[in-house]
Amino acid sequence: MSYPFEINNQTHVDFTEGKVGWRCPSNIAIVKYWGKHGRQLPQNASLSFTLSNAHTDTYIDYKKKEEKGLGLSFLFENKTNKAFEDKIRLFLKSVIEYFPILDHLYLDISSSNSFPHSSGIASSASAMAAISMCICEIDQQIAGIRSTEIDIKKASYLARLGSGSASRSVIPDLAEWGEHYAIDGSSDLFAVNVSEVHDVFKTFHDDILIISAAKKSVSSTAGHALMDGNIYSEARYQQANERITQLKKILKSGDVNAFGELAEDEAMTLHALMMCSDPSYVLMEPGTLDMIREIRTYRQETGIPIYFTLDAGPNIHLLYPDYVSAEAENFINEELLKYTENGRVIKDKVGNGPQKLV
Ligand code: PMV
Repeated sequence: MSYPFEINNQTHVDFTEGKVGWRCPSNIAIVKYWGKHGRQLPQNASLSFTLSNAHTDTYIDYKKKEEKGLGLSFLFENKTNKAFEDKIRLFLKSVIEYFPILDHLYLDISSSNSFPHSSGIASSASAMAAISMCICEIDQQIAGIRSTEIDIKKASYLARLGSGSASRSVIPDLAEWGEHYAIDGSSDLFAVNVSEVHDVFKTFHDDILIISAAKKSVSSTAGHALMDGNIYSEARYQQANERITQLKKILKSGDVNAFGELAEDEAMTLHALMMCSDPSYVLMEPGTLDMIREIRTYRQETGIPIYFTLDAGPNIHLLYPDYVSAEAENFINEELLKYTENGRVIKDKVGNGPQKLV
């Protein structure tokens, strides 16, 4: 098997312990990844904004272990969390072929999110990205690589194995994942940075209006699986790839209205696919539809470019360029806040990607 990066097989080296820490942001897909095959491979290319305020901080203290086998302890927000710990253990054990050193380490992991865990925001992307950056740095330190620069391709590959969308969270600004002729260097195995992006999109806002923080009735994993039996799936994969081509041109031109129309079409398509899965399901709530109506009416009446997208959940992601920030704030306060759960809004915008903490 060949890999798009070097594997460090050096497991019998002279080290005792060390510490790494990384902050990784969440991301919001404009063209969505929905449907997968093989080992976490996407059925179509996807493209996202990397965010900044919604992030996960992960620290790992590592020690050499005498007997073989990965050792691990995990604290989430300073408390033990068995469900998360089991998930992380399973993930790390599944990637030992890429990081043989993991079989010789004890990892003391602690992680926390900048946003409340139960806020309805997907935390797996930022969490898997942060842990992947940490593992890559440990691997580099043990291999004696002095550079603090992480092999981002490797980190993205690893993050993908934890959660598909996490592959994009290690890339600054705008990320694309999935082989596509319009994106140089693109691959199904890892995400890449999107080049030739107009400045207006590098400071774009994404305010997350929380309509419900309740756990989703159908997980993303189950949702991806239902795409296999969806009669529209082939047409969808083709459409998504065509939309990447369109979006690439829009990003270059700086056409905010074309961008917003495409983002909304993608959100509606994602939820339409859920509604026509077998069995069908609905993740939108009444408040989601109320907000969609308000946003479209506001745009028609004012011409101000405020758009929305949706993740796999009921919450509205309000997308707008920085130059309409004041208008967006008034609009949220006057027309949208009443549909949110206890006035919860997470204000976010496009950001610079992973940040080294220690
Ligand atoms: O990374 P996963 O398996 O949680 O899937 C994420 C899917 C969407 O968030 C709905 C879309 C995307 O591309 O992020």
